[in-house]
Amino acid sequence: MPSLTINGLTITVAPGTSLLQASEALGIEIPRFCYHDRLSVAGNCRMCLVEVEKAPKPVASCTMPCSDGMVVHTDSPTVQAARHNVLELLLINHPLDCPICDQGGECDLQDQTMAYGLDRGRYAEAKRAVTEKELGPLIKTAMTRCIHCTRCVRFADEIAGMPEMGAFGRSEHVEIGPVLDRAVTSELSGNMIDICPVGALTNKPYAFAARPWELQATETVDVMDAVGCAIRVDSRAGVVMRVLPRLNEQVNEEWIGDVTRFACDGLKRQRLDHPWLRREGRLQPATWDEALSALAERLRTADPGRIAALAGDMCDLESMVALKDLWESLGSPHQDARQDGAEFDATHRAGYLFNTTIAGLEQADAVLLVGCDPRHEATLINARLRKRWRQGGVKIGLIGPAVDLTYPYLHLGDGLQALQDVHEGHSPFADVLRTAKNPVVILGAGVLTRQDGATLHHLVCAMADSFGLVREGWNGFNVLHHAASRVGALDIGFLPGAGGLTTRGILAAASAGQMDVVYLLGADEVDMRQLGSAFVVYQGHHGDAGAARADLILPGAAYTEKEGLYVNTEGRVQAGRRAVSPPGQAREDWAIIQALAQILGKALPYDSLESLRGSIAGRWPHLAVRDAISPAPWPGATATVDLKNIHADTAFVMPVTRESYYQSNSISRASPTMAACVAARGGSDVAKAQAA
Ligand code: SF4
Ligand code: SF4
Ligand code: FES
Repeated sequence: MPSLTINGLTITVAPGTSLLQASEALGIEIPRFCYHDRLSVAGNCRMCLVEVEKAPKPVASCTMPCSDGMVVHTDSPTVQAARHNVLELLLINHPLDCPICDQGGECDLQDQTMAYGLDRGRYAEAKRAVTEKELGPLIKTAMTRCIHCTRCVRFADEIAGMPEMGAFGRSEHVEIGPVLDRAVTSELSGNMIDICPVGALTNKPYAFAARPWELQATETVDVMDAVGCAIRVDSRAGVVMRVLPRLNEQVNEEWIGDVTRFACDGLKRQRLDHPWLRREGRLQPATWDEALSALAERLRTADPGRIAALAGDMCDLESMVALKDLWESLGSPHQDARQDGAEFDATHRAGYLFNTTIAGLEQADAVLLVGCDPRHEATLINARLRKRWRQGGVKIGLIGPAVDLTYPYLHLGDGLQALQDVHEGHSPFADVLRTAKNPVVILGAGVLTRQDGATLHHLVCAMADSFGLVREGWNGFNVLHHAASRVGALDIGFLPGAGGLTTRGILAAASAGQMDVVYLLGADEVDMRQLGSAFVVYQGHHGDAGAARADLILPGAAYTEKEGLYVNTEGRVQAGRRAVSPPGQAREDWAIIQALAQILGKALPYDSLESLRGSIAGRWPHLAVRDAISPAPWPGATATVDLKNIHADTAFVMPVTRESYYQSNSISRASPTMAACVAARGGSDVAKAQAA
């Protein structure tokens, strides 16, 4: 291992470590533009020049590997002069745009010029100008500001797996732009804005909206899918202005998907800001007292066997616990949080978690995807799979409709027959799984939402045993959830009680006129036509499908407007934080349910968020452990699989498709930016009209 001296400090590093990395390990900062920890090394900006004794000229520290006995200076007069020169050259063609540039205040070029540059320029000639590039509804370009670091090109090629950006021309004529002269289509495209060190690529919907120093940052978690990406919500004067990623190596590294980033303009539109009550056939504004009293009256007189509760995909844990407690106190067993109709054995936690963990995927050497499209259901898990594929030595197979993932895979078949072939050892992928050191199966809603989903869930559990997917120190059985609320709901048992009905059963009963009250807690994804003549209560934040069908609307808070716990698909408990206040009279959801319980004379045994969380911790101790995954023991296959229960060999149907990716919940459906994305990709007329 080479040992070297940097600024008089000695360090021993692993072979292949660059001078820049070794300096960082010593806490010595070296400025850079093109270098990025997660991208290949380009070495084209020269901002990271350092002086190495006996070398004829300064060397780029990001490309130079450490070797034994090197003596390096990172702040000598030679290095300072080199940095002056690099910045002077970069600024020759850079516009004086800072006052009107959206990157101002958070710009690497601005910061590094202040720290390492000269205080005046000598260049008086005309500057070159570059025409803008059309990258679609998400990214605004000002290509004259581009310093050709190629970070965006490498990101698109390496991380996103969509080589949509390129460098064209040579020398003074080089330009960065889309390869096919069309909008970028990657669902990770917004990350190019973050890694662009200048204001060449900026957030189009946020253009000229705010300055960074005006914003209040709140560290929270995303609820657009079940990955639970770490995000920062920037708000100003009570309005969410933008969403940025936070670093979480275990979950999203430093990336987020485009829905997570850009759907935030949906938080301002179609909001429910006061209660509504249907009177004389029309929804009319009501006070909280009127709304809760009317609902209490209905519930007081209803037969507990004829009332049901459904929880939606973005519900926080606390509100689901409160509703479950209320429902049980009313004596109703009819509750479910699986809007998609999934019905499988949730007795054992390991049977429904993503047990390998997201970071653990990097150890996998065989991955079988069954009925899921991770690219659109869990974008950052797909990014991790692509990262694993780029490292080499992994075989990936897919059972389900062929989908466009960002890495090659073996398509084993569309549905059940292919799964049975693997299970019975007739498929070549069976050998791949059997001989792999760390095999992984990822089971998705394309299987679990089928009529025979429960049987197929048992079948895949049995496969996990027979293929040795679960062994000491490794659990390769994974369920990929799409709803942020799902694992939390399964953990607390927001499921049918004894004799209770599942989502399908509740809808069928309502359709047959056997339900008097259906309580939709943020549930917008069920087929509202099936609710028949039931009195429908919708508690939520957006005027979406649930509110349109409701007889009573209770305005709740969106995820940016409340404190709430969420459990991601791995079983990781994370806290969402309140960035802004709910609009108008909208309230935090658990508090609405508590107020209703009080009117009903069934006050819940907690009167603050803290006491509710205390109650949760007492009943489910693993939910008190934040930002970690409590171990879930593998029970092994718990039932004999009766293949007679399996329905015909129909193809698995993926729950989120490329078409529905941008509008899969009430927030993203209210977002003009998401509508613009759908329209830009040739979407529906409704989306085009919404975007316009
Ligand atoms: Fe100023 Fe940075 Fe914008 Fe260039 S990219 S105009 S240096 S803020
Ligand atoms: Fe670098 Fe930004 Fe130019 Fe891309 S657009 S090459 S990230 S400066
Ligand atoms: Fe080293 Fe750009 S950071 S050459």
